[in-house]
Amino acid sequence: MRFSVLVSWAALAVGACARFLADVYVASESSRAKAGMIDNIGPSGSKSSGAKPGIVIASPSTSNPNYLYTWTRDSSLVFKTLIDQFTTGEDYSLRSLIDDFTTAEAGLQQTSNPSGGVGEPKFNIDGTAFTDAWGRPQRDGPALRATAIITYAIWLLANGNGTSYVLNTLWPIIERDLNYVESNWNQSTFDLWEEVNSSSFFTTAVQHRALREGAALATAIGQISVVSGYATQADNLLCFFQSYWNSDSGYMTANTGGGRSGKDANTVLASIHTFDVKAGCDAVTFQPCSDKALSNLKVYVDAFRSVYGINHGISASAAVAVGRYPEDIYYNGNPWYLAVFAVAEQLYDALITWNKQGSLDVTSTSLAFFKQFDSSITTGTYRSDSSTYSSLTSAIRAFADGFLEINAKYTPPNGALSEQFDKSSGTPLSAADLTWSYASALTAFAARSGKTYAGWGAAGLTSTCGRS
Ligand SMILES: *[C@@H]1O[C@H](CO)[C@@H](O)[C@H](O)[C@H]1NC(C)=O
Ligand SMILES: *[C@@H]1O[C@H](CO)[C@@H](O)[C@H](O)[C@H]1NC(C)=O
Ligand SMILES: *[C@@H]1O[C@H](CO)[C@@H](O)[C@H](O)[C@H]1NC(C)=O
Repeated sequence: MRFSVLVSWAALAVGACARFLADVYVASESSRAKAGMIDNIGPSGSKSSGAKPGIVIASPSTSNPNYLYTWTRDSSLVFKTLIDQFTTGEDYSLRSLIDDFTTAEAGLQQTSNPSGGVGEPKFNIDGTAFTDAWGRPQRDGPALRATAIITYAIWLLANGNGTSYVLNTLWPIIERDLNYVESNWNQSTFDLWEEVNSSSFFTTAVQHRALREGAALATAIGQISVVSGYATQADNLLCFFQSYWNSDSGYMTANTGGGRSGKDANTVLASIHTFDVKAGCDAVTFQPCSDKALSNLKVYVDAFRSVYGINHGISASAAVAVGRYPEDIYYNGNPWYLAVFAVAEQLYDALITWNKQGSLDVTSTSLAFFKQFDSSITTGTYRSDSSTYSSLTSAIRAFADGFLEINAKYTPPNGALSEQFDKSSGTPLSAADLTWSYASALTAFAARSGKTYAGWGAAGLTSTCGRS
């Protein structure tokens, strides 16, 4: 008894400390990350090196590695972050930049390229095609771009813009992407890391989301002819989505090919980028607080405990540095800032949802995850007025803050975020000022502050797998 009182005081002290360090990091890094994103957007970003208006450079780095290109995936995730800030009133000054983005992307969509369609992953920053050998196509990009622009279109419709701009200017961009997703989702794709040519969980997840919200937008603006096609393929995607689950080991296998364990930040990114608080802890759509997503998170994080020197000596239930996948050999395989932020974000998203629904469930699937915070926890529903709920959620918040603390520890004093940090020394590595690293900081910080965004229709979906 006395021992457990001591243990919980110790846990409280650790929690308070993590909270304090995370508070300090959020306070300094928020404006730095926002500026880091804006610096990398043409034509006036201070590091965007002649990019066309609305073009997002992946990084200003021109050698070792040369990332001075624009990727559809990175650009769309970056602009989704900015569009979320705009549509929630956090920053109304972003509107002209968002309009530059949609114009630039419309141009890229129609630029003849080696993939022969909107699945081309990367372009030169002057908007011309990149024609060297590459892992192409990458079919997540069109879906992510559609999601970003749909978010903007819905705001315009609801805020006195009328329908003609959305119908005549934005819908053609959205429709090109969604028609491509509708027709091609069942073809192989290079994954988000541009290495494995197979089917990929992240790609399937974001394609499913985009078709769902696209069907709803099409309905709202009278584009009825596309609705049933999008809805049918969304159902098929949701069915296929379930097949990535590895029930023996409790995680989503990131790719159907590639010959790896399949433990991959791909899956955590899929969960945070398809978060819909209205869907609760639904496992069919892999919501952040679902038992499958929590089990997956633990398996993924644990895969890095022994592979990075900087993780040695850290307790088995505390936050550690994480990367893309444990078998990674790019730059010798290191932690990535955006992967560490993604883990924190999934946990903050889960806390938001539990607090909203007033309870959390521990199931046999998520038991191992929860045992990290309370070794005697058993399956069941814990209401928010119970002491177990309070102690679990405090510990999970401290665990999440611990991931921010990891990034804080390895962020240089000027706040710059590169792509990776060295697995042994913690020194920043690979591309400097990676635009996606900055975006991933801002989305994690927003989730930590409890911010949520409009849903995409995940609530109440059931997988129609196996039914005819
Ligand atoms: C609608 O919004 C677009 C994008 O900012 C703008 O170009 C257009 O002038 C607006 N139209 C109306 C009627 O407000
Ligand atoms: C296509 O869909 C079927 C049925 O869900 C699935 O078995 C197959 O693996 C999918 N192939 C690709 C490349 O997505
Ligand atoms: C990717 O895999 C598909 C299906 O196996 C194959 O048709 C295609 O040629 C592959 N692409 C590349 C670039 O290897």
